[in-house]
Amino acid sequence: MALNELGDDLSEGSPVVLYLDGKRRYLTSVERDRRLHTHKGYVELSDLIGLRYGSKVKSSTGVSFVALQPTIWDYVMKAPRRTQVMYPKDIALLAFRLGLRPGMRVVEAGTGSGALTCALAFFVRPGKVYSYEVNPEFQAVARRNIERAGLLDSVELKSGDVTQGIEEVEVDAVVLDMATPWLVVPHAYSALRGGGHFASFSPTINQVEKTVLELRRRGFVDVKSYELLMREIKVEEGAVRPETMMVGHTGYLTFARKAL
Ligand SMILES: C[S@@+](CC[C@H](N)C(=O)[O-])C[C@H]1O[C@@H](n2cnc3c(N)ncnc32)[C@H](O)[C@@H]1O
Repeated sequence: MALNELGDDLSEGSPVVLYLDGKRRYLTSVERDRRLHTHKGYVELSDLIGLRYGSKVKSSTGVSFVALQPTIWDYVMKAPRRTQVMYPKDIALLAFRLGLRPGMRVVEAGTGSGALTCALAFFVRPGKVYSYEVNPEFQAVARRNIERAGLLDSVELKSGDVTQGIEEVEVDAVVLDMATPWLVVPHAYSALRGGGHFASFSPTINQVEKTVLELRRRGFVDVKSYELLMREIKVEEGAVRPETMMVGHTGYLTFARKAL
């Protein structure tokens, strides 16, 4: 079942999250003759066949897990990774700002571990994501992650240095998460359709400055940069407050539109 499809019943091959508590959830799929091992015992995955999402299943030690239908959040956060991945809070603003929707054609670089690629493909399917990556080992990891999410048919994985050029033309968006986005700005301009979106995610403000100055120089408009902070709230009766620990920094997002 593709990630975009809604379903009620679990059958062989169905993707599933086995939810234990706020900190522990396991992303897997329903298979015969396979066990999911956890520190609370193992779950026979064939026990899930014929159940509905939302059902409880017991591990070998009698602990209950709830079988949930995975969302794109699970695939992003659970992606085995060789690189830093983009976090859901940043992907959410990106999706909203770019107006990602079915049918769009998006160029992405670098593919990294493919977490953002999965999210882009999820939103634009049956459109296409053209994803450039220089490192073949990272690309192999990304391919497995995208395949696991059932989204490989919406992605073209491309080997190459995106600072040397973008082959696609008239695309709706160019999305960058790589070290030197300012070097890609001229290629993004050539690849985008009029009004098309440029987006870049960078961990340092020095990268943001170089990218924004280059965007302005090249005639992009509506250039904006943002930082998002997300705090989880700890809720105990009579003691509701932010969690002590948080992800303090991911990166900055820069957006722009192509003016003809
Ligand atoms: C931080 S990772 C991207 C992570 C990805 N957004 C994700 O969510 O999994 C940055 C990637 O950009 C790749 N990269 C760096 N420079 C590049 C270039 N000029 N062309 C293509 N890929 C590049 C790196 O090899 C690395 O895999």
